[in-house]
Amino acid sequence: MFLQRTGHLVILVGVAICAIIGAMKIVAIDGSPHGDRGNTGMLLERYLAGAAEAGAEVERVSAYKLKMEPCCVRMPCWYKTFGVCIYKDECSALMDRMAQADAWVLASPVHVGGMTHGLTRVLERSIMLLSPYFEVGADGRSRHVTSPDATNRKMVLVSTCGFYEDDAFAPLVAQTEDLSHSHGMQFAGALLRPHGLALRFMKAQGLGVEEVLQAAYDAGNELVLTGSMSDETLQKVRQPLMSQEDFIAMMNSAFDRRLACSGGQSGPC
Ligand SMILES: Cc1cc2nc3c(=O)[nH]c(=O)nc-3n(C[C@H](O)[C@H](O)[C@H](O)COP(=O)(O)O)c2cc1C
Repeated sequence: MFLQRTGHLVILVGVAICAIIGAMKIVAIDGSPHGDRGNTGMLLERYLAGAAEAGAEVERVSAYKLKMEPCCVRMPCWYKTFGVCIYKDECSALMDRMAQADAWVLASPVHVGGMTHGLTRVLERSIMLLSPYFEVGADGRSRHVTSPDATNRKMVLVSTCGFYEDDAFAPLVAQTEDLSHSHGMQFAGALLRPHGLALRFMKAQGLGVEEVLQAAYDAGNELVLTGSMSDETLQKVRQPLMSQEDFIAMMNSAFDRRLACSGGQSGPC
């Protein structure tokens, strides 16, 4: 009862703060090649719905649909055009909006242990938002000079992976934390969904995944209303949906069925 009352109080205070200081602007970059139809997209959609319900202005961009040049890596944005990218494409416009956003939500399935190349390509272009000059951050580590406003801004990771164990996310979480440090932003936490394929499979079968999706929604709500996400909510997102043994059996029998459909021919699809 007490917790329920406290929760309602936090929501009321959060709504009042949003009304006074204006809506939180969130730019979400969906770095899954499967976009809306993917496992990561399913989690991201619920997270952003929760954030929007709490009053945030939400923009979702698909990294793989963005018409953009890769970073030219010669850094003319530092040495020639001073903070302006030489390309005038959809990614430059996105960088302008990211510079104004209160939060970046970076969504990526784990690919070869880390971020997808689609999301990496976009984030390489974010170097134009940094100064070439160096400074020492509050944690004593060197980084490029960032805007003083950046410290109030948040970065969130949303990810799914194929393996059963959630340690598959460790390199990606470390990479995202490092990126938030480079941009002088706060790493607000990560929504991690291990055995991500099981989530979609179980949803299609009508099996109980609503608690996971509801927790993703709640996490979006919490970010906007309180500026952070509780460990309890994030733990619900990453909770095991089945035993490791059942997972292995499910995946292997699904593979057997696919193989049977393709006449026993494994190989490139
Ligand atoms: C090229 C490729 C590499 C992958 N590498 C990993 C990996 O290193 N670790 C892992 O747990 N899952 C890996 N996966 C599985 C995906 O992370 C997983 O299926 C995820 O839920 C897919 O999300 P999506 O539907 O949004 O694409 C990989 C998938 C692909 C296509």
